Amino acid sequence: MRIGILTSGGDAPGLNAVIRGAVFTGIQVHNCEFVGFRNGWRGVVEGDIVPLGMPEVKGISKQGGTILGTSRTNPFEGIGGVDRVNQVMQENGIDAMIAIGGEGTLAAAKRLTDAGIRIVGVPKTVDNDLSATDYSFGFDTAVGIATDAMDRLRTTGDAHDRCMVAEVMGRHVGWIALHSGMAAGAHAILIPEQKTSVDQIVEWVTHAHDRGRAPLVVVAEGFSLDTMDDAHSERGLDAFGRPRLGGIGELLAPIIEERTGIETRATTLGHIQRGGTPSAFDRVLATRLGMAALRSVLDGHWGRMVALQGTEIVHVPFEDALGRLKTVPEDRYLEAKVLFG
Ligand code: F6P
Repeated sequence: MRIGILTSGGDAPGLNAVIRGAVFTGIQVHNCEFVGFRNGWRGVVEGDIVPLGMPEVKGISKQGGTILGTSRTNPFEGIGGVDRVNQVMQENGIDAMIAIGGEGTLAAAKRLTDAGIRIVGVPKTVDNDLSATDYSFGFDTAVGIATDAMDRLRTTGDAHDRCMVAEVMGRHVGWIALHSGMAAGAHAILIPEQKTSVDQIVEWVTHAHDRGRAPLVVVAEGFSLDTMDDAHSERGLDAFGRPRLGGIGELLAPIIEERTGIETRATTLGHIQRGGTPSAFDRVLATRLGMAALRSVLDGHWGRMVALQGTEIVHVPFEDALGRLKTVPEDRYLEAKVLFG
């Protein structure tokens, strides 16, 4: 069998380990052949294909990024569509695809599978917000990087008696904020799932400071202060009355400083959370998912995604992963909240 692999959407540490897991077992154990599509669905619709054999996957599971490149191209836009994908597969003798990606990638994979194209999915998101899988590879690495950054922020915060605000990734959900904030002993964790008022944040920061701590506030990028009053929302403007370019962390820091009298600095961790080598946990998870995806292809489990449930790798229909994000449950947030302030 000849299998095409693609990585699509924002990258996540562990993508290369998935590729290696599938290719290694496919070639060594099952006599399969592989090709890689370059830059996600773009490579599929453009027929941009590279060889993928043992030399290409040697030693890559410890590398960040993806050897295949990635993009946010939708295979149904431009010259794409079912006929074009079929044509590229036929011209290159490709029997099936393994698509590694998040919500958008898997939604496209489902549409293609519904039209008869043979695809197995592998979930990918550093935000850990895909349903039907307990953890996604890349999340553990991102949490580790964020926690390390916060440990560093705390020592400089202590030295200057400052409040430090750390903004982490999490466009729609607060998993990275929750885990890294708990690990670093944050005095407040702000996530999109939980409305939190400025008064409450000020109370936590003040309480921590009164106890002799340099307060650490962790905020997910998707958190919004929609409870801000007019005076605070003006903080969204710079000295020239233009919208600030920074994220929620930059917006929050001057509000905290003004309301508490504690000098406050914001740090946005940004894409550093997605860069570099994957953690050991992510390498193992990603390798297992790659091997399971290969198994699913050999078994003809089209339209399904491999997933981690408990400690087992299972496969679930695409629709189980799509349409609703895996948000932080309230009890997990309340558990962390006991430690605030
Ligand atoms: O979805 C993962 C994610 O890392 C989000 O947390 C973040 O908002 C986004 O991707 C960044 O996307 P880009 O790499 O396109 O800037």
